[in-house]
Amino acid sequence: MKNYNRHLITAALPYANGPVHIGHLAGVYVPADIYVRYLRWKGEDVIFVCGSDEHGVPITIKARQEGVSPQVIVDQYHTLIKKAFADFGISFDIYSRTTSSTHYELASDFFKKLYDKGEFIEKTTSQYFDTEANQFLADRYITGECPHCGNGSAYGDQCEQCGTSLSPADLKNPKSTISGTEPVQKETLHWFLPLDKHEKFLKNWILEENKHWKVNVYGQCKSWLDAGLHPRAVSRDLDWGVPVPREIKGSEGKVLYVWFDAPIGYISATKEFTPEWEKYWKQEDTRMIHFIGKDNIVFHCIIFPAILKSEGSYILPENVPANEFLNLEGDKISTSRNWAVWLHEYLQEFPGKEDVLRYVLCANAPETKDNDFTWKDFQARNNNELVAVLGNFINRSVVLTHKYYNGRVPAQNSLTKYDKETLAEISELKTAVENSLDNFRIRESLKYAMDLARLGNKYLADTEPWNLQKRDPERVETIMNISLQITAGLSTLIAPFLPNTAKKLCQFLNIGPVPWTDIGSAHLLKPGHHINKTELLFTKIEDDVIDKQLDKLRKTKDLIITNNNSVKPQKEIISYDDFARLDLRIGTILNAEKVQKTQKLMQLSIDTGIDKRTVVAGISEFFEPKKIIGKQVCILINLEPRKIRGIESQGMILMAEDEDGTLKFITSDDTVNPGSSIN
Ligand code: 2FM
Ligand code: ZN
Repeated sequence: MKNYNRHLITAALPYANGPVHIGHLAGVYVPADIYVRYLRWKGEDVIFVCGSDEHGVPITIKARQEGVSPQVIVDQYHTLIKKAFADFGISFDIYSRTTSSTHYELASDFFKKLYDKGEFIEKTTSQYFDTEANQFLADRYITGECPHCGNGSAYGDQCEQCGTSLSPADLKNPKSTISGTEPVQKETLHWFLPLDKHEKFLKNWILEENKHWKVNVYGQCKSWLDAGLHPRAVSRDLDWGVPVPREIKGSEGKVLYVWFDAPIGYISATKEFTPEWEKYWKQEDTRMIHFIGKDNIVFHCIIFPAILKSEGSYILPENVPANEFLNLEGDKISTSRNWAVWLHEYLQEFPGKEDVLRYVLCANAPETKDNDFTWKDFQARNNNELVAVLGNFINRSVVLTHKYYNGRVPAQNSLTKYDKETLAEISELKTAVENSLDNFRIRESLKYAMDLARLGNKYLADTEPWNLQKRDPERVETIMNISLQITAGLSTLIAPFLPNTAKKLCQFLNIGPVPWTDIGSAHLLKPGHHINKTELLFTKIEDDVIDKQLDKLRKTKDLIITNNNSVKPQKEIISYDDFARLDLRIGTILNAEKVQKTQKLMQLSIDTGIDKRTVVAGISEFFEPKKIIGKQVCILINLEPRKIRGIESQGMILMAEDEDGTLKFITSDDTVNPGSSIN
């Protein structure tokens, strides 16, 4: 890596149209905060910026639904979100917002500069217009009939019943959600960023120079680049957002596209934080890192870099360690379905346990794949790791020191080989934590930090000072001295992860912060130094507390099921004989390939145990052909054959369809012979 003199760390600006939940913390803010705290401990020059993303269509929709102005909505959520982050110790240097005057000015100037440099293409396109409300309609403001599933209230960008991405022109009988009238097509002028012109540069920069990016990030970028980039509109017809500079002809009624203005929010926030902001944004010896979730990859790795490059004087990110998503009890977190653990609610229900949630979310961070948060796992990690490992070791060291030496650190007498090895291991763990953090393997780094507490417990268990106190008091002094040196090292090694706990530990030990470089020293606490009494750092979480949370989720789920009109009603009752006529079997997929010129169809060759046959299934959007070869599936084999796109399909594969239209195979829970019947 190049030599860098400062770091600029950004965390995705959350939309100010709802509170933040555990998925936000686990995916972005806890990893970013741990990383930043680590850099600060190492004495690096670092700025950590974030803020609320306060523009965009969903905010205007929410405002309209609630009969207030968008400003009222964003004010409310900005305050709530900012407080939740502060309560969880997310240590931003600044948490700003994209409605700040600095941002309006900076984003507007940025657009103007690109316009003046000729970096945009101007294009007139035809878009839906509501003549009654006298405004152009964003895709979400148009509903109509889905051409795929017939759902009568599909949105202009997506049908929520079948999950298909749509464009407004696809909808049958479109209606404006503002006036309920049928919109008309009208021409409108917009400014487009010609991403295709930047393709060569982006390909080289990402695919050649940034091979060190995480596999999920690199892979997503590569598939975008391989598919070819196209011009993207960076303005919208909307009355909420940063206005397109008025000096530009045709700018009336137009605002910057939210994904143009939001990342510029990082710059504005830095500018609000320090007059030296340009040093962080424009000098090549600054290392910029964007912490984001996987849905933001294209914006941070392709579009924003193209915007910065077009401007010409800005640096590009050195890394974008995007995470995957966190699920909750096996289901996707969803704001609209209230399927989430909200941070402001957690704070009320688990006061003083902010570090516990930080710990669990970090230990479970969705770094390489989507992960699941469960309340049982939360309880187990608290009870078996924080209480039984970390809390237990610290408590034993401090309590025994009080018991044997009235709270005075005892002398370090002659060291055994085992003592020396134990002390050496502290430094090794410090290096391991550093190495993991330097490579954004945050979960792994937490494990190494906890290994120091495990080391301490093992040391006490192996040396058994409680059995030696009478026989060999000199030896016990050394053992307790070393235990205390480990606790002092821990106070810094765990600090990026558990900042409140680390602070309390320093109070128990009656010391100031131990410098990062001193972790591993055998002399952090001098003999004779007086330490304070402890209180328990962590307490056991009992089953009834967890049951209460599970109950709450159960009630939410019941409500979702009751409210969810996408769950299809039960069909008419059939006789057993009707059922028995279906010949359902387990078959094995022998081969799979996409049907040419279709989006959804896949041609499968299936071993049914009876024969090998061809089935055409509408599953292409959800599976890669190569990856499903060998899979056992459930197949209806006595369905009348029919031709689909000229291919005769001889049966039907049974699929489970999620509420959002996602398809999953139904399969046996263990391998069975092809042809096994399903009764
Ligand atoms: O996905 C989101 O929540 C966006 N508000 C993230 C914006 S990140 C940055 F570009 F501002
Ligand atoms: Zn549909």
